[in-house]
Amino acid sequence: IRMATHDTYADIGVIGGSGFYSFLDDVTEVTVETPYGSPSDSLFVGEIAGRRVAFLPRHGRGHSLPPHRINYRANLWALRSLGVRQILGPCAVGGLDEEYGPGTLVVPDQLVDRTKSRAQTYFDGERRADGVVPRVVHVTFADPYCPDGRRVAVKAARGRGWEPVDGGTMVVIEGPRFSTRAESRWHRAAGWSVVGMTGHPEAVLARELGLCYTSLALVTDLDAGAETGEGVSHTEVLRVFGENVERLREVLFDAVGALPATVDRDCLCTHAHDGWNLGIELP
Ligand code: ADE
Repeated sequence: IRMATHDTYADIGVIGGSGFYSFLDDVTEVTVETPYGSPSDSLFVGEIAGRRVAFLPRHGRGHSLPPHRINYRANLWALRSLGVRQILGPCAVGGLDEEYGPGTLVVPDQLVDRTKSRAQTYFDGERRADGVVPRVVHVTFADPYCPDGRRVAVKAARGRGWEPVDGGTMVVIEGPRFSTRAESRWHRAAGWSVVGMTGHPEAVLARELGLCYTSLALVTDLDAGAETGEGVSHTEVLRVFGENVERLREVLFDAVGALPATVDRDCLCTHAHDGWNLGIELP
């Protein structure tokens, strides 16, 4: 691990999704290795509104990693090792209801995990490559997103005239394929709002590291059960994300400026480790 010096220090992280490959202009590129392997890409550290921010393209530059191949553990570990304690996670999602059409911004307050193959904990009791053995830890995850981060994101969107959906459930599928119509109708009948492929285990790993995590889910398409066309296409997802990426960037900039200072954090996320012996040292 490269230790954070001033140039590489950041306390806020932004993990950019499909169609969101750069964020800051004047950046220091930082390569970070972790006990869990390499993150998706270099981390790009810069400043917004006087805050130090690290940007990480979730799928790597040029979108080289599909959702199930992303090393989520390395990504969050790498961000934390630079000093990051609060994360904004924009991502592309499908809407499960006609009410959530393309261009809708959802700031979910709940999550359903339907992924299958992903390393989703740091605390699996398994010896790491560096010989350290993490203990078994069961974090509380009833409320998967940071309530303070959500408030900040919703307010930032409103401030830019983009009325977001405040709350709702994101179901995360394994992918990389999109849902069948039957799966999609089932997700919708369950009352879930949007469907994505990366929101889990990103959110839970953030919680395991005691980080605040806020999802900003941009609806790029109506999922298969909610539309009558031929089904979701990746081209469509990228096109709609591209159309909205500038205002999403503005919302993220405003949100970064409005997040509490690290020392002022006072949310449930900061209590993730209360009563637990982790067996590992966090970066
Ligand atoms: N990401 C963007 N649109 C999606 C959809 N319909 N299903 C899953 N992930 C998505």
